[in-house]
Amino acid sequence: MSVITKASSAAATQPATEARGPSSVPAHVAIIMDGNGRWAKRNGLPRVAGHREGARAVRRSVEASIRAGVSWLTLYAFSSENWRRPPGEVLDLTGLLRHYLRTEIQELHANGVRLRVIGDRERFDPDICEALREAERRTAGNARLNLIVALSYGSRAEIVSAARTAAVAAREGRLDPARLDEHLFEQFLFTAGMPDPDLVIRTSGEQRLSNFLLWQAAYAELVFLDVLWPDFSGAHFNQALAEYARRERRFGTRPS
Ligand code: IPE
Ligand code: IPE
Ligand code: MG
Repeated sequence: MSVITKASSAAATQPATEARGPSSVPAHVAIIMDGNGRWAKRNGLPRVAGHREGARAVRRSVEASIRAGVSWLTLYAFSSENWRRPPGEVLDLTGLLRHYLRTEIQELHANGVRLRVIGDRERFDPDICEALREAERRTAGNARLNLIVALSYGSRAEIVSAARTAAVAAREGRLDPARLDEHLFEQFLFTAGMPDPDLVIRTSGEQRLSNFLLWQAAYAELVFLDVLWPDFSGAHFNQALAEYARRERRFGTRPS
């Protein structure tokens, strides 16, 4: 299996529908947006410039999803571990989040995007929490693209929290432990009611999940792109879709 896909192949500009027909477009794409710091360093700029440029790539990935007919896009924007970055960088990142919540929601709304957040959002300042709630409320009726942003998100904490909720429900007699199966357990995750990702893309050449959707990505195809996130374009998105379309998915079953 080739894991790193060079970011320059001719397939990049082709839609991903040829190999297996229209159904080979993934319904849900999740992206680990990595490489902002390296991009800034490469360009002799402060890290915050990389994050700012990364936000433009977010816009491109939303547009590319809509164009390709992907209906769910999950973006890993800030991990629970990212709180341990230097305070100045955390301040830059939360400041950018605050700024984009003010300036981008109208455009997303106009484009029929429904925004939702997964993660431990209460760790952000109250004004950011309020802006997130308001953005979710405002876009709740949209259905063209479901945009899920993972903020202060960590998959292990999510799973532990789900287990705790189930345990409390069992203790209080609201849940029979014998009835707890995968389907029921999923209802306690942040992603309750959302489809699992079919395709997980990570940029910057790193090949790990970094605590992202560990439960939900159990059967996802993983595509690692050798491009830094601020350079990510619609062509890279299509390249990942083309790679997805080429792969045969068996879900643990025997080849037919
Ligand atoms: C991804 O870029 C953005 C966030 C994790 C917030 P990085 O900031 O991790 O960039 P690199 O990995 O240092 O290049
Ligand atoms: C993963 O990138 C998290 C996000 C993209 C938000 P990191 O750069 O934070 O992850 P590690 O440190 O390389 O695992
Ligand atoms: Mg990184």
